[in-house]
Amino acid sequence: AAESAAASESSQPADKKVVLGFAQVGAESGWRSANTKSIQESAATAGFDLKFSDAQQKQENQIKAIRSYIQQKVDVIAFSPVVESGWDTVLKEAKEAGIPVILTDRAVDSEDTSLYKTFIGSDFVEEGRKAGQWLVDQYKDASGEVNIVELQGTTGSAPANDRKSGFLDVITSNPNLKIIASQTGDFTRAKGKEVMQAFLQANKKIDVLYAHNDDMALGAIQAIEAAGLKPGVDIKIISVDGVHDGIQAASEGKINFIVECNPLLGPQLMTAVNDVLAGKDIPLRIVTEEGTFTSEQALAALPNRQY
Ligand code: AHR
Repeated sequence: AAESAAASESSQPADKKVVLGFAQVGAESGWRSANTKSIQESAATAGFDLKFSDAQQKQENQIKAIRSYIQQKVDVIAFSPVVESGWDTVLKEAKEAGIPVILTDRAVDSEDTSLYKTFIGSDFVEEGRKAGQWLVDQYKDASGEVNIVELQGTTGSAPANDRKSGFLDVITSNPNLKIIASQTGDFTRAKGKEVMQAFLQANKKIDVLYAHNDDMALGAIQAIEAAGLKPGVDIKIISVDGVHDGIQAASEGKINFIVECNPLLGPQLMTAVNDVLAGKDIPLRIVTEEGTFTSEQALAALPNRQY
């Protein structure tokens, strides 16, 4: 797809490289590292001049980066918004400067959809629903209460909001499934471990952990093992992403179910950049296709997992 991006028509003068400003969320997880690599490699393949910034999970840093791309008069701005709200002002500034904006990975909640050209990324509500459905199926015959703890992603981010709501939508069909504690772990391994330690201290009986990403699940596994319990057996674990370390843990039976979230958005982004610059109409929403992994499927996928 990256090659077709490079080849597709553009209104750019032939001797001028397309300048793409990309404001990344941060480097919080294995997913994010794979996403950054995909964007950098695809931009190079497409022959773009990529200006890249890392916001360290802070919205104010991302807004600064976008303003600097506007000042530098880049051709296109792309970003993955840390949180969903609070983007209208800076998006209007880009629009007034005549610079098209493309959202990747995470959405904004702006009502004015003319502020961006497209949003390329996963359906996070669907990911939460898949996680919930696995749990409902596993516990369909359970007669007693099933105590669930939830490690949420970054507060206010689209994946945290949507993975929570999709999961809840589905598990409410079985009143035995109860979320007894829910807290953010910021999508990081360290915070996942720390919050899981607190969950274990405060709750006598935890049956299930739902982590909004693999990194938090991996941190939580360390806390569970340190407490003398067997992850995947004493506490069932569901997570989202499917990065190599997550797939590895699933193949060892420490994570029971992973909902895939595809970080390799670079080729689709570069195609969209070329299309926008060529004045083509592109869909306002481009959804990434994704699967799921049980432990057995993780074992089979592990040797070929690239990220
Ligand atoms: O926005 C995608 C999410 O951000 C990934 O699921 C998580 O690992 C990352 O930090």
